[in-house]
Amino acid sequence: MENYFTTEEINTQKSLIKKGYFIFDIKEKKLLNEIRDKTLFHVKDWFKKRKIKLKINTNILNNIHKFISIENLNSLRLHVYNKLNLDRKFHENYFFIGKQYIDILCGNEVSMQKKVNLSIQLPKDDSSLLPVHSDVWQGDSPYELVLWIPLVNCAKTKSMYILPKKINKKFQDKLFKYNSTSKIFDEVKGKVKWLDIKYGQGLIFTQNIMHGNVVNLEKTTRWSFNCRFKSLLSPYSGKTIGDFFSPITIRAATRLGMNYEEPKKK
Ligand SMILES: [Fe+2]
Repeated sequence: MENYFTTEEINTQKSLIKKGYFIFDIKEKKLLNEIRDKTLFHVKDWFKKRKIKLKINTNILNNIHKFISIENLNSLRLHVYNKLNLDRKFHENYFFIGKQYIDILCGNEVSMQKKVNLSIQLPKDDSSLLPVHSDVWQGDSPYELVLWIPLVNCAKTKSMYILPKKINKKFQDKLFKYNSTSKIFDEVKGKVKWLDIKYGQGLIFTQNIMHGNVVNLEKTTRWSFNCRFKSLLSPYSGKTIGDFFSPITIRAATRLGMNYEEPKKK
């Protein structure tokens, strides 16, 4: 099989295939800052409507747990999520932040998840955990990649973990012996790789490998977005085009091919 790629393309792809993830420095800082500023606007709006005062000088996102209870967290999350997802420029910025690497890793004609997910994890909050899992077991196509972008620095339990590929293989094959995800995690917790991702960096990972999070035991709150991308014409699974994914980059040759009509015989 031929492998006609540039050195950068080869190295980026090797990293994803070897480790299951790829962390990059975001070059489009302006687009990232726009997303953070829009998020902050909607956060402030939610508090304003409830007449709750936010100390504007504090690092609001990192310290949001000082102003909100766990019971109200989902209301804030949904407010910000819904407002941002109504905004086409937010979607466009999100894609362009990762485009250089999505092009290399997925292809230059892609489908994007219609709604970008938002995760907010307050310190010690156990209400929004993702137990160890691989999304492919739950109906995602193994051809999908996730672009994960934090709005604050994330490390240790404030971040997410992924299983090193070799260990993933070993535990995945033994999987049906376990009857609960917490038992799986007990087995693998000493072996998981916690991803250290700062504001200004992005992560692309494959959902074919087990990953998840635990209670945030750090002192500050996590804010991160995640959104799936896949090569437009690669196989879909439970999450289909039109329903869950939207094509965002269809190139001319594909458009011509899709619209091609055979000459009428008679
Ligand atoms: Fe997942």
